[in-house]
Amino acid sequence: MTIGLGDTSSVEIGPGDPGPDHIGPDTIDSDSVRPGGKLATLCVHAGGGPEPVTGAINPPVFLSTTFVQDGPGQHRGYHYARAGNPTRTVVERALADLEGARHGFAFASGCAATTTVLLTLRSGDHVIVGKDIYSGTFRLLRNVFCDFAIEATFVDLRDPGELDRAIRPATRMIWMETPSNPLLEVADLSAIGEVAQRRSLVLVVDNTFATPILQRPLEYGATLVVHSTTKYLNGHCDVLGGAVLTDDNALAQRLELLQKAVGAVPSPLDSYLLLRGLKTLAVRIRQQVENARILARWLEGFSDIVRVHYPGLSSHPDHELAARQMKGPGAIISVELAGGFAAARSFLQAMRLFSCAISLGGAESLAEHPASMTHAAVPQAVRRAVGISDGLVRLSIGLEDIDDLRADVECALAATRCHNPPSVQRPGLAKEVSGE
Ligand SMILES: Cc1ncc(COP(=O)(O)O)c(C=O)c1O
Repeated sequence: MTIGLGDTSSVEIGPGDPGPDHIGPDTIDSDSVRPGGKLATLCVHAGGGPEPVTGAINPPVFLSTTFVQDGPGQHRGYHYARAGNPTRTVVERALADLEGARHGFAFASGCAATTTVLLTLRSGDHVIVGKDIYSGTFRLLRNVFCDFAIEATFVDLRDPGELDRAIRPATRMIWMETPSNPLLEVADLSAIGEVAQRRSLVLVVDNTFATPILQRPLEYGATLVVHSTTKYLNGHCDVLGGAVLTDDNALAQRLELLQKAVGAVPSPLDSYLLLRGLKTLAVRIRQQVENARILARWLEGFSDIVRVHYPGLSSHPDHELAARQMKGPGAIISVELAGGFAAARSFLQAMRLFSCAISLGGAESLAEHPASMTHAAVPQAVRRAVGISDGLVRLSIGLEDIDDLRADVECALAATRCHNPPSVQRPGLAKEVSGE
């Protein structure tokens, strides 16, 4: 890897930012260094090796917003920080390597990444969207992009008939999450990838929940992979970020232009922190998935819980599909409490180790109530239709000891019992479960 030495043949006339039509090869670098090895090795080494001038094992954080040019229009690969920053380049390459993509773009947040992808559409275009998606994506489509005549139809992507019927002449894109948020539904990536390819549609997969450790959507025919890097990829609840990865050269050129034109880019320090978080991604995911598997099986034994949503359980309707297309079922569990909203509130207030907080994917376990927190922007009628009940609680399982996690959940469940309907037997443990 060579920091700060891009393609100097890309000469731009005029100071600062090149014009909107500039599509330079300086950041679209299809020959970027691609270390070999398995994913855990890639997590540590993706993006390149030590910095060549000093031998620093980590890349420098380049805080400069502008870069000296050898002559007018003769820069050395970087000219202005919005257009390109060497620390950002390293993390963009690392993210691309992890998803097996040629091109990577980093953004200031997951929503900034989503917005930039939606800006590749034109007015009059139509998007088909999975019905159970992150509420911020729903909000962007329903409250922002609709004003630019971009129409969205929300369908259950697990039903191939629904997808087929929703496709119109104006359809350009399918947007999906699998597993979905917050119901952990799993849609068939290769079947949807095949439809997208046959109908010449751009397939976007938000891979935030799975991460490339568990699933690499480009291998199933996705055109673009989107991430909220705020979650598992950074993994420490201290950086807001987003990313888009693709193999499609034409879309990559458009995204490069939009990234620069819109300017929703991450800071150099956030780029560095994200790169640092990536190094432990594989080991964090392995441990978090193991904790989640044990906890989900154990939770199934409680009569206070109507349903445990977790693709790793054989009771989950998409269990076999998840086992086929994912290397592990992830570390998010949603539970539906028998006592509804009152029980959810008591449960969250009684937790001592889990924090009641939005977000997921950090080292610490978090719990949240989708109906009043992450999915409050989704109208109640839509939430009901999708299946997000008032008693639903989403758990992001962290890296703590499993015994401590279980003890905390057990205390929190005890606090919900006064809200249980009479039909639910007490005490809460309905049957002995031998999960571990
Ligand atoms: C699946 C998913 N996609 C996108 C986003 C948006 O990311 P950010 O909060 O970084 O803007 C989130 C945030 O929770 C998410 O859960």
